[in-house]
Amino acid sequence: MTKIGILGAGKIGLAFARHTARAGYDTILSNSRGPESLQAAVAEIGHCIKAGTTEEAATADIVFLSVPWQHLEEAIAPVSSWEGKLVIDATNPVLPGMVAAPLDGKPSSQVVSELLPGARVVKAFNTLLFSLLASDPHEAGGNRVVFYSGDDPAAKKSVLEIISRLGFAGVDLGTLQDSAKLQQFPGGSLPGLNLIQLK
Ligand SMILES: NC(=O)c1ccc[n+]([C@@H]2O[C@H](COP(=O)([O-])OP(=O)(O)OC[C@H]3O[C@@H](n4cnc5c(N)ncnc54)[C@H](OP(=O)(O)O)[C@@H]3O)[C@@H](O)[C@H]2O)c1
Repeated sequence: MTKIGILGAGKIGLAFARHTARAGYDTILSNSRGPESLQAAVAEIGHCIKAGTTEEAATADIVFLSVPWQHLEEAIAPVSSWEGKLVIDATNPVLPGMVAAPLDGKPSSQVVSELLPGARVVKAFNTLLFSLLASDPHEAGGNRVVFYSGDDPAAKKSVLEIISRLGFAGVDLGTLQDSAKLQQFPGGSLPGLNLIQLK
């Protein structure tokens, strides 16, 4: 089974971890304070999950990035190489006080990609509020939609497999550049929408 490492075990990271552990993915959770601080969360989630350092989480096949934008660079610093790593970027370029971060006209996912040389970045799981992401994705006779985008078709296929296995419905928004106007928060038209794909 694919291993998933999570950088950032706050509201979004924990919501995602509950789904991946429940679906049987070996999941490693990490935060800024070290594995000891995550023992209670790991015990509560139960199986298929352990706490680790950032470096340990980043050894997984797939790394889920869920740290606040202002801590991004410091959070990824312990990882020596991103070459070939599949990274799911769930971040939003928001600074404290809900201020939009300066991006120099680039999609935020491009900024993230530039910080992770060699990584195959797929942007996903950034448009749902954490409480909605945490809830059962089966609703109203269908599956909650998760948008995803990226420039590497094989990486996107792998992320779609995860999205589907967790019980969500993946909707492909194209490349990182194409998707930004729709998927990015703030500014995009899709964040905050709770869409259900009916079967
Ligand atoms: N909240 C939402 O509804 C939502 C929805 C979509 C996307 N997002 C995006 O998801 C990301 C996370 O948001 P959140 O609400 O989950 O934030 P959060 O609850 O504040 O959690 C942030 C996590 O990042 C960790 N972290 C901070 N600095 C770190 C570092 N230097 N190294 C390792 N870990 C570090 C924190 O560690 P400690 O616990 O040790 O402090 C914490 O576990 C943000 O980019 C946000 O924009 C959030």
